[in-house]
Amino acid sequence: MIIPQLLLPFPTSSSGRHISPKHSPFRSASSAVADHFLSFSPLVGVGVVIIIIDQQSDEVMGDSKKLSPMAAATTSTAAATTTASSRRSSCNYYLLCCFVAAAAAVCLITPALTTGVDANSLDANVTAKLSVDASARRPIPSTLFGIFFEEINHAGAGGLWAELVSNRGFEAGGPNTPSNIDPWLVIGDASSVVLSTDRSSPFDRNKVALRMDVLCDVKSCPSGGVGVYNPGFWGMNIEEGKKYKLVLYVRSLDSVDVTVSLTGSNGARTLATTNIKGSASDVSDWTKVEALLEAKDTDHGARLELRTSKKGVIWFDQVSLMPEDTYKGHGFRSELVEMLKEIKPRFIRFPGGCFVEGEWLRNAFRWKESVGPWEERPGHFGDVWMYWTDDGLGHYEFFQLAEDLDTVPIWVFNNGISHQDQVDTSSVLPFVQEALDGIEFARGDASSKWGSLRASMGHPEPFKLKYVAVGNEDCGKRNYRGNYLKFYEAIKRVYPDIQIISNCDGSSRPLDHPADYYDFHVYTSASNLFSMSHQFDRTSRSGPKAFVSEYAVTGKDAGTGSLLAALGEAAFLIGVEKNSDIVEMASYAPLFVNTNDRRWNPDAIVFNASMAYGTPSYWMQRFFAESSGGSLVNSTLQTSSSSSLVASAITYQDKDQNTYLRIKVVNFASSKVNLKISVSGLGANTVGLSGSTKTELTSANVMDENSFQQPNKVAPAQSMLQNAGKDMDVLISPNSLTSFDLLIESNSIRTRKSGPLVSIM
Ligand code: AHR
Repeated sequence: MIIPQLLLPFPTSSSGRHISPKHSPFRSASSAVADHFLSFSPLVGVGVVIIIIDQQSDEVMGDSKKLSPMAAATTSTAAATTTASSRRSSCNYYLLCCFVAAAAAVCLITPALTTGVDANSLDANVTAKLSVDASARRPIPSTLFGIFFEEINHAGAGGLWAELVSNRGFEAGGPNTPSNIDPWLVIGDASSVVLSTDRSSPFDRNKVALRMDVLCDVKSCPSGGVGVYNPGFWGMNIEEGKKYKLVLYVRSLDSVDVTVSLTGSNGARTLATTNIKGSASDVSDWTKVEALLEAKDTDHGARLELRTSKKGVIWFDQVSLMPEDTYKGHGFRSELVEMLKEIKPRFIRFPGGCFVEGEWLRNAFRWKESVGPWEERPGHFGDVWMYWTDDGLGHYEFFQLAEDLDTVPIWVFNNGISHQDQVDTSSVLPFVQEALDGIEFARGDASSKWGSLRASMGHPEPFKLKYVAVGNEDCGKRNYRGNYLKFYEAIKRVYPDIQIISNCDGSSRPLDHPADYYDFHVYTSASNLFSMSHQFDRTSRSGPKAFVSEYAVTGKDAGTGSLLAALGEAAFLIGVEKNSDIVEMASYAPLFVNTNDRRWNPDAIVFNASMAYGTPSYWMQRFFAESSGGSLVNSTLQTSSSSSLVASAITYQDKDQNTYLRIKVVNFASSKVNLKISVSGLGANTVGLSGSTKTELTSANVMDENSFQQPNKVAPAQSMLQNAGKDMDVLISPNSLTSFDLLIESNSIRTRKSGPLVSIM
């Protein structure tokens, strides 16, 4: 029998760096707003060539030679534009040809004349009026704003999925041997230890195991022994006092004496250790070893070592190290889940994206390979984002995550089409069956074939799956329609209530096939996305609803996550909110990036092994967190600079059933705006003076970004609204997203039964 010996931690003082991000959503208004105004300085006007590619037709939509509203609003001189477009065929990857017009624009600040009580009410270059009629309201779908999780940028492996060992089964080089054990590395030299791979694993679906030939013995081995170590995903975050669950499989022809340690990145400092000792008969067959390692010190770039000074041959396989304190014990990195919870996602689309398609079908994510005991999952090489995943974060875990976030799961599956190859419609039935089985896995009862597998994994109750997407960005491909119809018919026959999402864009013309939703993706410049706040204004109100499952500002405007990008996105979402009778869901993309593997830029949440922060686009989403399930309120904006200002109004209730009127304003220009807000339709109700707040997302420079050093440089700042009332003069900062949350003193907002909006009371 193998007895892992746990060494108890000895007390030390910890002076480790930080850990999780400071989520404090709102900086103090005095610092953020004052910073902004004090350091407000000449801005650079940016002219952008905008190219949007329509998913359905490969058409280039939009204005290809349009100056951004920001450039227009400043006194900048835009340099000549350049047009160029390029499209990576497979992924609808939008390459923007941008140029920067070096045009300095000085913001003139003149004395204030307004009566507003806004602390920074100096003056404004632009005046505007927003009339809000609180009696005219329309329900906003409860699903409106959600998240899209894709296994990209090591979002899951080495990210949200808390497994610390990378390539735990030694399979990353594929099923043939010699395989690639990267990032495992040898401890010792060729005269003392030889590492190789063979196909002796006890697990049929992943036969590769590590063979370690130890050539030295206790007398000749270097001090501490020889062996192999795993640096995790660019270092393991090991923290003093925390416990880590080790599981590994071992086999040997002789007795074993292996020291398993967590050490600092160079192996010198031991953070936790245990011994694996067993007689030859103990380990003559593959044997599972489990141990709990408690860290006595902290290191954010730690590694896991397996060492011995005993001559002989030892095989290892499926070596796993999981923190004990994952979210709800379900394997998710807690602080990243907390960041997701803060934006209150109402749905989660998963697991991709291009990840679902694969560059080639043979490398696409296949749900059946990602369920059951983790040791038995083969893992796969995602050939679009070009990295190996052990698939610990699999089909089951995605549904568990949705449940843990109390959000609606939306499963995207492969429809027999990858970037490079496709299955003919006449041969697509096995793929259809795979999708049906995947649905049964999620919601079949525990006695069904696939539901019983789910139950055996710990979830006898069905997951609440009601939405599936047939493929990703495949509409233009030869077999899409044919394949889609096979899926549609088969799924509706067995699960008539399941809502099916087509890849084809129905926003500008009706679909030629049945669907409950159509998918809409947009990656473009900030000015173009700002203009797209009207994208759905003229969309037909009949037919399937829109699901904007991927939107973001990309290219130079975005940097690695700029304020400018967030403002363009906020304006677009205001348009989504206003058109939420036809757009029922929207999610930013991509959600996560591990800074050690930036495959796509920008992203909402940036992390490494131990830290994380939100980009301005992440914080922007906070402003929309209350919209889902709220009510859209009629609002009309009159402005002297209509091209750079958008606004909307909603009502919502907080968890204590207080009713708020939230007015959101995006100022895309580098000029301040004096905004007169006038609220009617409140009847006898009043706006509460105490409890009404102003929240602002802005920064000194529109290209400002957050970083590990300054995670909250561009973050919302909240302050009490001193002049809250039905009529208010407020100052809107340049380049800002602002929300005014007005506490309505009674719940009985009068509603009217006529007009463009439907009364809900
Ligand atoms: O979000 C990144 C990628 O962009 C997705 O994988 C794909 O759907 C889109 O092209």
